[in-house]
Amino acid sequence: MNYRHAYHAGNHADVLKHAVLARLIEHMKKKDKPFRVIDAHAGIGLYDLGGVEAGKTGEWEGGVTKLAEPFSAEIEALLAPYRAVIAAINPDGALRYYPGSPELSLRLMRANDRLIANELHPQDAIALEQQYLHDPRCDVISMDAETCLKAKLPPAERRGVILVDPPYEVKTEPERTVRMLEQGVRRFAQGVFVVWYPMKADATAETVLAGAKDIGLPGTLKVEMRVREAFSGGGLAGSGLIILNSPWKLDEELKLLVPALAARLGLGSWGQADVSWLNRPT
Ligand SMILES: C[S@@+](CC[C@H](N)C(=O)[O-])C[C@H]1O[C@@H](n2cnc3c(N)ncnc32)[C@H](O)[C@@H]1O
Repeated sequence: MNYRHAYHAGNHADVLKHAVLARLIEHMKKKDKPFRVIDAHAGIGLYDLGGVEAGKTGEWEGGVTKLAEPFSAEIEALLAPYRAVIAAINPDGALRYYPGSPELSLRLMRANDRLIANELHPQDAIALEQQYLHDPRCDVISMDAETCLKAKLPPAERRGVILVDPPYEVKTEPERTVRMLEQGVRRFAQGVFVVWYPMKADATAETVLAGAKDIGLPGTLKVEMRVREAFSGGGLAGSGLIILNSPWKLDEELKLLVPALAARLGLGSWGQADVSWLNRPT
């Protein structure tokens, strides 16, 4: 396992993933009944943008840094929960820390909602454990994501968000991601599954999208943001999320939010967004 998210925290893909995750959690909170977030690839939770790893790539400068200027009032209303978390962890106003998905979930969840944060990398799992040792709402575990989902689905609350955010380091990871989704949906058909995928000059996105569509759940939403041209060896040109059992009207919000993010984060005229149904809701 070579991938460490500390090198990439706050980049354009994190901005998309976390702004959408924040909206999703806001939707879950519309009902009083508690829910559970299962973060199958959690990372370390909180990232120091002044740290050695982030400093080596500077990726956040093409991501969260570009959000400094406000958007229109309509977009700011949609971004508010994400911005609130960033503000809470940077109380003096300067951007130093960036929230990973567990931090974002915990800061937006209520007292009786729960998080299972799973991380396989031994060092990152220890960092994650230390970060949330004192939060009784959070259970940190360290196992392979596929095993984690088999063990933890369905959640006792019967309401939940499952984040599948693999690093795609291994060639077979797109197929494995689809398999995780299929198995997850079999165990917890009403769960809101969120799957991240990279947009590069390869077939990863295509494989994950086709597999997710074939699962056939109504209400399967594709959310993509491209920031530059994809070419061989050119790395991450954008990223996407697939949301299974997408909450009612989340699509309408994202059809406003994601084009605004793409216009801001995209290089030149490359910023493009696509929010569309893989399978329409019934
Ligand atoms: C993209 S990062 C996660 C970022 C995090 N979800 C966030 O948004 O802040 C992917 C993480 O998955 C971990 N990982 C890689 N393979 C895994 C596996 N098979 N099971 C669980 N975690 C894995 C990596 O160590 C890495 O921390």
